[in-house]
Amino acid sequence: MRSKLIAGNWKMHGTIKETRKLILQLAVEWKKSCEQVEVLVCPPFTSLIVARHELEMSHIKLGAQNCFTGIDGAYTGEISATMLAEIGCSYVIVGHSERRTIFAETDDLVSRKVRSVLDAKLNAIVCIGESEAQRTSGETEAVLSRQLKGSLAGLSASDIVSVTIAYEPVWAIGTGKTASPEVAETAHRFVRSELETLFPGTSENVRILYGGSIKAENAVSLFSQPNIDGGLVGGASLDAEGFIDIIQAAVSL
Ligand code: PGA
Repeated sequence: MRSKLIAGNWKMHGTIKETRKLILQLAVEWKKSCEQVEVLVCPPFTSLIVARHELEMSHIKLGAQNCFTGIDGAYTGEISATMLAEIGCSYVIVGHSERRTIFAETDDLVSRKVRSVLDAKLNAIVCIGESEAQRTSGETEAVLSRQLKGSLAGLSASDIVSVTIAYEPVWAIGTGKTASPEVAETAHRFVRSELETLFPGTSENVRILYGGSIKAENAVSLFSQPNIDGGLVGGASLDAEGFIDIIQAAVSL
């Protein structure tokens, strides 16, 4: 049985002071450790050290939103997975659609980032998802298949234990237009079958998160689908109460 993961992707939001406040609120509400539900927050790089400090006594895990490839080197402005491990992260989000579209990240680059994350003994949350135009023209499965294959290129079946997939339809991110539970489940089922083809015998153990306008109101119906193993939550994770309600939705199942 896969445990659920509820991950907050804070994106480029929050000063250090705001991070401290939000984390303290979350830590007060989420004191317990729960076998069925793992909770993760991914603040901006500048807040990671403060977040790690504030999370010390809690069961909430810390993640980053991106990294570069390799350990170190002449890559002005970049941060490696090794550095993120040192600061106390246990997860790194890789290949988010905002990085793919705004920063032109390719599947090849994403796959090299995933390799670096795993080499640093961290877990990778690998994001995939189709645009509205791709869905309308019936390309959803082809896009998901291509992104999955490209982003996980070079990995072995034993690497897959440290990989979580986030299915995030681009048309649902930050738009308030959540995928219906049926649409999301169909995509998740497809992703799992593709994973089984790529890494036989592993797919039942891989968590596939849904992301795209998750709110407390739609969380239960999404998380109760058999192939939806939690959520990558953007906007709604910036409000402690709303994020806790989403976590509680996962706990209630
Ligand atoms: P959203 O973002 O919940 O604000 O739609 C999700 C994400 O981009 O990971």
